[in-house]
Amino acid sequence: MQTQLVKVNSQEPEPEVIATAAELLRAGELVAFPTETVYGLGANALDCDALGKIFTAKQRPRSDPIIAHIADLGQLDEITRGVPSSAYRLADVFWPGPLTLILQRKDSMPEAIAEGRSTIAVRMPAHPVARALLEKARVPVGAPSANTFTRPSATTAAHVMEDLSGRIAMILDGGPTSIGLESTVLDLTAATPRVLRPGGVSLEALRDVDPTIEFQPAYVSEQEGSHSPGQMLKHYSPRARVLLFRGDDRKAVLRRMEEVAAAEAQAGLRVAALLSDEDAAALTGLQTVERLGPVQDLDRIARHLFAGLRALDRHDTDLILLRDPGRKGLGAALWDRMLRAAEGEVITC
Ligand code: TXA
Ligand code: MG
Repeated sequence: MQTQLVKVNSQEPEPEVIATAAELLRAGELVAFPTETVYGLGANALDCDALGKIFTAKQRPRSDPIIAHIADLGQLDEITRGVPSSAYRLADVFWPGPLTLILQRKDSMPEAIAEGRSTIAVRMPAHPVARALLEKARVPVGAPSANTFTRPSATTAAHVMEDLSGRIAMILDGGPTSIGLESTVLDLTAATPRVLRPGGVSLEALRDVDPTIEFQPAYVSEQEGSHSPGQMLKHYSPRARVLLFRGDDRKAVLRRMEEVAAAEAQAGLRVAALLSDEDAAALTGLQTVERLGPVQDLDRIARHLFAGLRALDRHDTDLILLRDPGRKGLGAALWDRMLRAAEGEVITC
């Protein structure tokens, strides 16, 4: 299959481009499109065969359920049942935006969207291209991140091409995404609302609306098998091995990084670090040090993390060193993605 790569204005998407993409979706084809978090790989969520193509293109196990994207609150009734009032309260504050809610699924929805579950994940994205596409398609659109399963999510159209060229009908290129990490996934079907994946909406912001929201990450390794979808530890991983360093004494952490880097380079490995500007400036002796942004600017660091991991992969890096970003605000989501990129390999100094 030839994948069409089409440029689209990210603020005022051209109606003819959107119409073509929406037609492909309605015809059961796959279309990748930008959202404010990461690029999504879209299929008509009412079409079982179209959803099936997502799993094949991404090489993703059927057990990992897919988020349904909607254009307006009216579509919620088409796909869910028994929506609690808390969902409307949260939607009022955070939709359109980087929040995904797990709700009870309508029986009429295709099983393939969340195999073996009675629930469905729903998100109303804010990106003008995503919104225009959803409005024009007039169906809810199932869309996981547009990357091969377990690789870092795609934050540019080039990343989508890297992973999915020849496997999908079209990619809408609306430039780099503004958040760069996926949405926060919040389960409203349990007795207490629970964050399953930290993301673009911070825990602090969620708890301002509902202080009872819980977050207890239970990371599961591949060997142990995953009971809760999306909680597998190997996820967002580059091909290179990743080591995540943490510790209260920044200087000690950086010295330890230098020691590990020197030892691994001695053994013939290509070692790189992906760090804040300040950490990068303080680190010596490494061949490759990529900068993510100022240490206080978590927005910028988040925007560049996946792109940085992918860039180092393209340069045949063997080992990538990262440092703990803290847990405040977007830090919780950054830590989660870094920990998974490292497959749990943390060095505490
Ligand atoms: O920002 C995002 O959320 C992006 C954009 C494209 O919207 N999408 C995305 O989708 O990251 P995906 O499939 O890569 O991640 C969705 C996460 C997975 O961890 C999945 O297991 C979880 O949401 N999820 C989806 N449906 C679920 C359900 N019914 N119950 C529990 N978890 C669910
Ligand atoms: Mg994903």
